[in-house]
Amino acid sequence: MIDFERQIEPIIKERCLECHSQDKRKGGLSLATYADALDGGRNGPAIRPGNAARSILIHRVTGAVEPQMPKDEDPLTPREVALIRLWINQGARRTPTSARAPQPWEAPLALTKPVLPAAVWPDWNAPTSRIWIEARGEGAVYSPDGMRIQFDDGRVWQREVAPPPVVVRRAPVVYGR
Ligand code: HEC
Repeated sequence: MIDFERQIEPIIKERCLECHSQDKRKGGLSLATYADALDGGRNGPAIRPGNAARSILIHRVTGAVEPQMPKDEDPLTPREVALIRLWINQGARRTPTSARAPQPWEAPLALTKPVLPAAVWPDWNAPTSRIWIEARGEGAVYSPDGMRIQFDDGRVWQREVAPPPVVVRRAPVVYGR
């Protein structure tokens, strides 16, 4: 098992820290500590524990992605690259007896379109027909005829009973004229 402190840190210290310290952070990346290295840089995690082939750090030190690291200096020796690759493939452990490093969070590859409500009444935002259902913690709107309710997540409820008849107010009768 590769020993990070004894076999990897010395390479980083000598070849990378000049530009990837906590102060300099070229490309947003600090390699000053084990935790920093796992944090990654501007393009996200530079190390994918268990997967050197998908680790940006390996792409950079091999020159698969330009500019090759260390930038404008002699590349790492094949032995140094092999050590780092093996360390990552063994799980990028902090010490030979530590557990494998946790996987960095990744955004899901496919974004899904939100489902839009099937019907949106014109007065969706009108306060007169908009209600808040405290017990359910959700909002809804009435259809103009009062027969349907559409919840904010798009569900539609249909009333079973007809709405009460419209009461026609008579004009006040004025006496004594
Ligand atoms: C002389 C300065 C210098 C040295 C030394 C150096 N780098 Fe860099 N590094 C940079 C610069 C500048 C960038 C940003 C440039 C870019 O991404 O195009 C960078 C970017 C990176 C990135 C990409 C970060 C990201 O998220 O985009 C990685 C990974 C990296 N370096 C690894 C290393 C490793 C490992 C070493 C040591 C073996 C090293 N670098 C040594 C200057 C340096």
